[in-house]
Amino acid sequence: MQHPSATELLAWYDRSGRRLAWRAPPSGTYDPYRIWVSEVMLQQTTVAAVGPRYARFLARFPDVAALAAADWSELAEEWAGLGYYARARNLHAAARAIAAAGDFPADSAGWRALPGIGPYTASAIGAIALGEALVPLDGNVERVVSRLFAIETPLPQAKPELGRLADGFTAQPAMRARPGDFAQALFDLGATICTPRSPACAICPWREGCRAAALGVAAALPRKSPKAARTPLHGVHFALLDAAGRILLERRPESGLLGGMLALPGTPWRAEPWADAEALQHAPRPGLSWQARPGLAQHGFTHRDLTMRLMAAQVPELPEGTPLDQAARSLPSAMRKLLPLL
Ligand code: ADE
Repeated sequence: MQHPSATELLAWYDRSGRRLAWRAPPSGTYDPYRIWVSEVMLQQTTVAAVGPRYARFLARFPDVAALAAADWSELAEEWAGLGYYARARNLHAAARAIAAAGDFPADSAGWRALPGIGPYTASAIGAIALGEALVPLDGNVERVVSRLFAIETPLPQAKPELGRLADGFTAQPAMRARPGDFAQALFDLGATICTPRSPACAICPWREGCRAAALGVAAALPRKSPKAARTPLHGVHFALLDAAGRILLERRPESGLLGGMLALPGTPWRAEPWADAEALQHAPRPGLSWQARPGLAQHGFTHRDLTMRLMAAQVPELPEGTPLDQAARSLPSAMRKLLPLL
């Protein structure tokens, strides 16, 4: 089966690609540090949410030397709300390794050896910052490629095949001339036209060459293997509030689910539901008059289904508390789901 034309996709990208903060102007050059930071942020946070945080991060840590010289506490503060702290720890460790080596790795294989850099991130940096002829395989690219070639094998089994098909684009000189733009054109096509549920095939630059569009099955691809049933988990969390609308938050231990992230204090999460009396032994101030709030909050992790209940109590003043609107912004989404129960 033939690959569609890289030239056509790049022409579409030049007209319709998104203007994003980490993208150089046409024919501009790319700073590996800036691309690396953007890719790490984009692993867990949407393009829209990364925008302002990216500018702020670069203002505080303008280059790899500044990041390497920073204390972990400064970086942790700047990372709040950007997802797992393990990623920021790896960013810090890799910045120090780069500073010690005196320069950035020369190619994607060198990047791959740094803490926190997996195959996708190494390829993205290689293609975008270093001009290597690589096609980074993220969820967008998997979706686009599975549709172009109407691959019926479900994910994740299809991954190697999709990777080989994506690599097939490197045979085209137009792709090799602009690998970073080609990768980002694929990301944009996946994010704006070749979307998961209702792809806009009518306006797709690759419509002509797309097998799935021809067969009318684009929206059904890629197929996914049925997920293994998730194990249930139960927890009770505690909302300690004061009259000024502040709430008590704590940081979770570095390891385990939501490691290193902000949370409402709570019981451990376990397979059996908690009775109120038993849960209260884990309350931040067990002696207060804790009220169980009606309702449940549900959150799915990759292999776990967490059901949470909320108990609430008030004190006149909680100086160590966080204003509720700020808590709503800095809590991970699992914890944010508790706030409507208040
Ligand atoms: N997702 C990951 N990397 C990206 C990029 N460079 N542009 C847009 N979306 C992305």
